[in-house]
Amino acid sequence: LSSMKLPSRPELFDFEGVSMVHYFTDNWENVKNFQARPDDILIATYPKAGTTWVSYILNLLYFGKDGTSEPIYMRVPFLESCFKVIPSGTELADNLPTSPRLIKTHLPVQLVPKSFWEQKSRIVYVARNAKDNAVSYFHFDRMNMAEPEPGDWNTYLQKFIEGKKVFGSWFDHVSGWWEKKQTYSNLLYLFYEDLAEDTGREVERLCSFLGLSTSVEEREEITKGVQFDAMKQNKMTNYSSLPVMDFKISPFMRKGKVGDWKNHFTVAQNEQFDEVYKKKMKNTTVKFRTEI
Ligand code: A3P
Repeated sequence: LSSMKLPSRPELFDFEGVSMVHYFTDNWENVKNFQARPDDILIATYPKAGTTWVSYILNLLYFGKDGTSEPIYMRVPFLESCFKVIPSGTELADNLPTSPRLIKTHLPVQLVPKSFWEQKSRIVYVARNAKDNAVSYFHFDRMNMAEPEPGDWNTYLQKFIEGKKVFGSWFDHVSGWWEKKQTYSNLLYLFYEDLAEDTGREVERLCSFLGLSTSVEEREEITKGVQFDAMKQNKMTNYSSLPVMDFKISPFMRKGKVGDWKNHFTVAQNEQFDEVYKKKMKNTTVKFRTEI
């Protein structure tokens, strides 16, 4: 892997009303026709909301230490991805030997392959407050050559507001999935801020949603193993083996904090953002915390 050449940065384009890059549409026929199973667990997020965190928690809950000998992006296939440097997400998922299969997606709810709904697969959605999510995405785009050029922070923030980001608008994503939760009972909607506040409590919440009986000791051990510093040191979770990322610019496990937005937003940007937020979120009941 390390000998692979870094690809040049892709262009953003409209795909069924959602901004995308070709890495997530090149394999669309297979994504659309993907055969989900009733025991699949889909981990769905807007990028940078805590996908890797929850993926690793679920991997440990189901497979324990057996599940830790391969990087997380091999254990938990990224469904719509088609990066060429590793097999496509559908190919990885089709060949996963584990049961249940853990599968990751960043797709907005309306683009999720229909067999997940037909099979009534369980879905864990993770959402993160818009301000921290934007900051995290900005740093990710700086270091990840598979993303369009982010520009400076202000340019980036304006694109985030307009939904001109890979996987589209944060506002549509979190509210679309929140809506779905009202009618699809096999969906658990988690918040990054809750995970940061009390990881053990959220692990318990996950266990109860998934019908897993784990001992207090097991849960405590998992909770310890998934703290930010542990995952940052862990080669299986820190993405250090993926050549499209330049850790000299910014590490994948960057800060892991709630409220880092305060180090990025100017007073004017914050006021503008709060105004936009009010308008764009006026028709949804989902509520976020920007500090804990
Ligand atoms: P920051 O850039 O704010 O540090 P995703 O996995 O969806 O790409 O999200 C990545 C974000 O989640 C990064 O945020 C990363 O540091 C954070 N993260 C990953 N594991 C974490 C953990 N165990 N605790 C807290 N934050 C974590």
